[in-house]
Amino acid sequence: MLWTIFFLLNGLLILVLRYSTRTRQKNEPPLDKGFLPWLGHALEFGKDAAKFLSRMKDRHGDIFTVRVAGKYLTVLLDPNSFDGVMNDTVGLDFTRSRNQVIKRIFSLQLPSIKPSAERQWMEQHFQGLNLSKLCGSMNSNLQKLLLSDPSGCSPSEWRQDGLFNLCYSLLFRAGYLTLFEKRDNATEVYNEFRKFDDLLAKLAYCSLRRDESKTAKLSRERLWELLTPECMRGNSESNSWQQSYHHFLQKEGIDAEMQKKALLLQLWTTQCNAGPAAFWLLGFLLTHPEAMEAVKSEIRGLALQDTSLQRPPINPLEAHSTPVLDSVLSETLRLTAAVMIRREVVHGKVLQMANGQEYHLRRGDIVCLFPFLSPQMDPQIHQEPQIFKYDRFLTDRKMKDTFYKDGKRLKYYTMPWGAGSNICVGKEFAVTAIKQFVILLLTHLDLEMCDPEDKLPPVNTNRYGFGMLQPYGDLQVRHRLKNTQNEI
Ligand code: HEM
Repeated sequence: MLWTIFFLLNGLLILVLRYSTRTRQKNEPPLDKGFLPWLGHALEFGKDAAKFLSRMKDRHGDIFTVRVAGKYLTVLLDPNSFDGVMNDTVGLDFTRSRNQVIKRIFSLQLPSIKPSAERQWMEQHFQGLNLSKLCGSMNSNLQKLLLSDPSGCSPSEWRQDGLFNLCYSLLFRAGYLTLFEKRDNATEVYNEFRKFDDLLAKLAYCSLRRDESKTAKLSRERLWELLTPECMRGNSESNSWQQSYHHFLQKEGIDAEMQKKALLLQLWTTQCNAGPAAFWLLGFLLTHPEAMEAVKSEIRGLALQDTSLQRPPINPLEAHSTPVLDSVLSETLRLTAAVMIRREVVHGKVLQMANGQEYHLRRGDIVCLFPFLSPQMDPQIHQEPQIFKYDRFLTDRKMKDTFYKDGKRLKYYTMPWGAGSNICVGKEFAVTAIKQFVILLLTHLDLEMCDPEDKLPPVNTNRYGFGMLQPYGDLQVRHRLKNTQNEI
């Protein structure tokens, strides 16, 4: 027993020494290990990654290596140099660190599935005719949910709600009904999902308190149960996207247990971003009257505006040009989408920066791009980056796509959807769904802030790196069905 303890302590000491004694080698990025052995900067990183990385950028520049919970992250913040990471599929690996996070959050392992096969399966559903069908179905689900009131009171009476809850709940339930089996448990799934989603960042950082850990586990199990498709219970077949995913997993030889868990990952991937994005977009419009007026005026000018209940759903692929709304959406995502793109260095690699400098990256380290800091909040690219400007992406009533840093035109001037081979596969669907939602809501509902002096709530800072940011608190609004349709 004593010997076991001795060997364990010895092993631990060697590990601590190994990870504490690393020094910067020639040609490596600046190294900042933090004071805490092994943990390094983990606490600050988990609490507010944007603030921490911004401080590191001020100290070290556009590239540096930091120690976070035993791992070394090389953070690259020069968008002109991103291609050296995005285009390298040999020296850098996407799957390993992603799989670790997925295992931790969803208790899911799918080692036998090739990422390229899964990607191919996803792409076929979010393109061409399939995309068109999904968008049509999403639009009619949104209409049904938006115009009905489960509480039974007249929809033309004022109702009060938090804007975040209103947007998340409507887009989540409509998305769930569109992609998953048509069942009557959408509200229950939403409520359970919110409990799980609230603890997601802490699950990923292994920083849950004991009671939170219990809630997260119970909630995850309940969601596995709620999502189990009828065909896995031996009941009838349906023709949904979920059913197709189920067939794909079966073909890949995934057992029933893992299939259930994979569905929760898909629910999260497909439903966790659009609702929060719509919240920020409408929140910015409500707190910026000139932007609201510009969007409303654009909607008035569309043939779309007479979408009364009797009409068939809008065909989303009909080319309605909405440059103002497109710019508002891009500006919203610039300010509130905060993906972290990670790759593991599998062979030692030399990274060539746009300014000609070269850095050596060590095997086993993680390279990390955080586009939220740059390009999205970079004052050299976007003037006054903290401020919402609805026409930032507008030029001559067209979308603006020319932005510069250090005199060079940028390929990546905003990156809410990620980039390269892992770019969001549902981008077109998401853009259409958010626009449909905003247009339907402004066309059919009167919507106003309960207190006209209210400001948007601050960002929940522990969500940096997990896609769309969420607010800390909510914005109270009231809404009712318009008396006269189409008067917006
Ligand atoms: C505002 C809304 C959305 C944003 C900002 C967004 C953003 C992203 C980002 C940044 C990624 C890449 C993550 C990574 O590199 O690890 C991603 C992946 C993905 N997104 Fe979205 N997304 C949104 C909505 C949607 C919607 C509505 C769907 C489908 C209904 C969807 C489906 C997916 C899928 C399936 C992937 C995984 C792709 C892969 O693994 O190759 N997304 N999304």
